[in-house]
Amino acid sequence: MKGLILAGGAGTRLRPITYTSAKQLVPVANTPILFYGLQSMVDAGITDIGIIVGDTAAEVMTAVGDGARWGARVTYIPQDAPLGLAHCVLIAREFLGADDFVMYLGDNLLEQDLNTFVAAFTGQSERPAAQILLKAVPDPQRFGVAELDASGHVVRLVEKPAEPPSDLALVGVYLFDPTIHEAVRAIEPSARGELEITDAIQWLVENGRRVQSQLLTGWWIDTGKLTPLLEANRLLLERISPRLEGTIDDASSIDGRVVLERGARVVRSQIRGPVVIGAGSAIVDSYIGPHTAVGNNCTIEHSEIEHSVLLEGVRVSGVPRLQDSLLGREAVVTRTHAKPSALRLMVGDHSQIDVE
Ligand code: TTP
Repeated sequence: MKGLILAGGAGTRLRPITYTSAKQLVPVANTPILFYGLQSMVDAGITDIGIIVGDTAAEVMTAVGDGARWGARVTYIPQDAPLGLAHCVLIAREFLGADDFVMYLGDNLLEQDLNTFVAAFTGQSERPAAQILLKAVPDPQRFGVAELDASGHVVRLVEKPAEPPSDLALVGVYLFDPTIHEAVRAIEPSARGELEITDAIQWLVENGRRVQSQLLTGWWIDTGKLTPLLEANRLLLERISPRLEGTIDDASSIDGRVVLERGARVVRSQIRGPVVIGAGSAIVDSYIGPHTAVGNNCTIEHSEIEHSVLLEGVRVSGVPRLQDSLLGREAVVTRTHAKPSALRLMVGDHSQIDVE
């Protein structure tokens, strides 16, 4: 069994962060999103892994390398343009060969291990052509949606339907046997110009192949937008093991689950976990509240931050309250007392600023 991780795409919904960075490398709980998927594949015994890369190929390749860190062997498969999830299967044909494979969307996060999902597929004497994971969601219009018959077999799949046939969304993890190669060659691009994986699976159904579904029990997050990304950060911080390797002065207090990396300093501040603070960061005269991940080499002074993700090198100074925020690398947010009182901004294209 091989693995195929999709780490190309446009990432338009996470601009401006994705102007300079791959969305799959945005850290949640200070670990790039992509690394969680990679790790869960390896944990499921899959070590021969292909990664689809697009415009951000160089950054992904630098971060992941040859995969040895995870005990995996990684092959990079460049995609010239984000032409769809089924297009990724099409261009990975040579890498995948005649093997079964798990396809994993590089910006998706799952609570559950892949083991049970893989075992359900490989453990059958007569394997289905595809096995999909489903999750009931309140807003199925945003996803690929499955319609099942009374015995749980997939009868129809539709991509982002205006009138969803069910509330069962397709989770970004799929298992395929090599029949899928025939399907991705047979389908046509959709109205939005992409080769849709839902159409390819629908082709399998229409051509009499068995498509099996499994209901996901744990949480699943498609992190491609700000709110779910902060939610993923919250959920993963809930699972961290506390570890204090930085320095904390006597005037500071640390409560709950907190990771303070080596070289980080907490001075006259209060940290209330779950929180992770990266190496070399300084928290001075500040409060860092639950569900905050502070990257490496950040400086927070005279500020209060909660439920936020700060990437490397961020500086926040004199800000009474910052929450539900994602700050890109080296971003600076300061309060000055210069007159006239005003917001003074230099923000990138597609940035979003909510003023109280
Ligand atoms: P999406 O989030 O559906 O697409 P996107 O990355 O283009 O994002 P946006 O809609 O915000 O512009 O993609 C799911 C995952 O699959 C994500 O990790 C990117 C990856 N992907 C590819 O590698 N190639 C593709 O052609 C597409 C469409 C996505």
